[in-house]
Amino acid sequence: MARDGTIDLIIRGGKIVSPSSTIEGDVAISGETIAAVTAPGMLATIANEIDAMGRHILPGAIDSHVHFREPGYEYKENWETGTAAAACGGTTTVFEMPNTNPPTGTLEALRLKQERAAAQAHVDYGIYGLLDEDNIDILEDLIAAGVSGFKCFMGNTFGNLPAPSDGAMLEGFEILARHGYRCTVHAENPSIMARRQERMERAGRTDPLAHLAARPEVCAVEAVGRAVAFAEWTGARLHIAHKSSKDALYILKDAKARGVDVTVETCPHYLLMTTEDMKIKGGLLRVNPPIREPGHGEALWAALHDGTIDMIATDHAPHQRDEKSAENIWQCDCGFPGVETQMPVMLTQVNEGRLTINQYVQWSAHAPAHAWGCYPNKGVIQAGSDADIVIADLSRGRVIDNAHLHSKSKITAWHGFKTTASVDWTVVRGRVVVREGELVGEQGWGKPVKQQMPPPKPNNVDKTMQAIIEPPRF
Ligand code: NCD
Ligand code: ZN
Repeated sequence: MARDGTIDLIIRGGKIVSPSSTIEGDVAISGETIAAVTAPGMLATIANEIDAMGRHILPGAIDSHVHFREPGYEYKENWETGTAAAACGGTTTVFEMPNTNPPTGTLEALRLKQERAAAQAHVDYGIYGLLDEDNIDILEDLIAAGVSGFKCFMGNTFGNLPAPSDGAMLEGFEILARHGYRCTVHAENPSIMARRQERMERAGRTDPLAHLAARPEVCAVEAVGRAVAFAEWTGARLHIAHKSSKDALYILKDAKARGVDVTVETCPHYLLMTTEDMKIKGGLLRVNPPIREPGHGEALWAALHDGTIDMIATDHAPHQRDEKSAENIWQCDCGFPGVETQMPVMLTQVNEGRLTINQYVQWSAHAPAHAWGCYPNKGVIQAGSDADIVIADLSRGRVIDNAHLHSKSKITAWHGFKTTASVDWTVVRGRVVVREGELVGEQGWGKPVKQQMPPPKPNNVDKTMQAIIEPPRF
């Protein structure tokens, strides 16, 4: 609330969306916070109003998986351009990954990233700490210094951070379990992938589909199973990044039924693209895990609908055009930008009847807010919550164009995709950051998210590394 309790901004006449309802109404904002949500016409007119008539008012999207590249690869992206892209795409909170240079696995690296983010961010953010072989002893220091959660690269990807041993990973989970922090895993088995890629390279395979052949679904089945086993054993909270295939879903469904605290994301490209697209677009679509054969997308949609997959993230992974354009697939960098296109692409799916607008809010805002301990500060439009709000028009789209992207990466898999919806306004903690599609915010407005994870629930505490290295008591 503004200190004097005055109303600073009213969004009038739109359809306000939550996971369970769509109601016509007005939203009053005081300072950084939603002061009231009322029936239409209840609020006295003020100078600063937005007319949302005919449009939808959504909680800003919360993206659990972005790579903003700074420090270390600023030529690909930085915090200013990455968060500008987020804001223009209706994303008001991002969780940023640690495969920067230096990787965010030390206190110095975390502080450096925190400074860069604080100076440049247009939207709110969380910063992931790295969990790797050598930093288990400082995980608690990283927590104290303000990471939002951790990332464990079980399989290799951009940055080539080596996967920790199972021993280190388990010990890391034991520590995170004591604190209630969630660990996101890149769940692919590295030794299968390395062996396959090496054999194919020796055999001369350099075509785009060789990338898929190097990373078959069993890599994810094995790594998801291992991560779930460690999470269940220790009580650590787990998040599965970028679920791409149908094959490991049964493990996650079972784990959830047993009460394991595991959340799961998928990305628009796994829902909507297949190897048929890869045959046309080649290295541009090289991404980890790979885009798969037809049939996986349908299973991922079904898993969203039955709750096995909780949320949509983007894995925004910007690279330069020449880094995505090599003839030889092994020389193309993995990933492409996505944070700016997620909402228009997914709202287009709403228009096509593949999900309801309420499910969209559940999967893009409500579920991630819960997973990261931000609810009800974020992820909902109600009195007392942060005023993180998007006004979207579901009757007017446009063709996605590389040239319009705010990311430094002007090469997206979505170039040419025709949307039927657009993001018109983005409000971050009460401040208009995007006005009728134009970025008007000032860098540095974004702040670290406030999180309150539920109480920790560690398991098997008598068998942890901490327990066994204490001298036995007789
Ligand atoms: C990501 C990147 O470029 O940082 N690339 C990708 O293919 N998804 C890393 C990752 O999330 O695996
Ligand atoms: Zn990943």
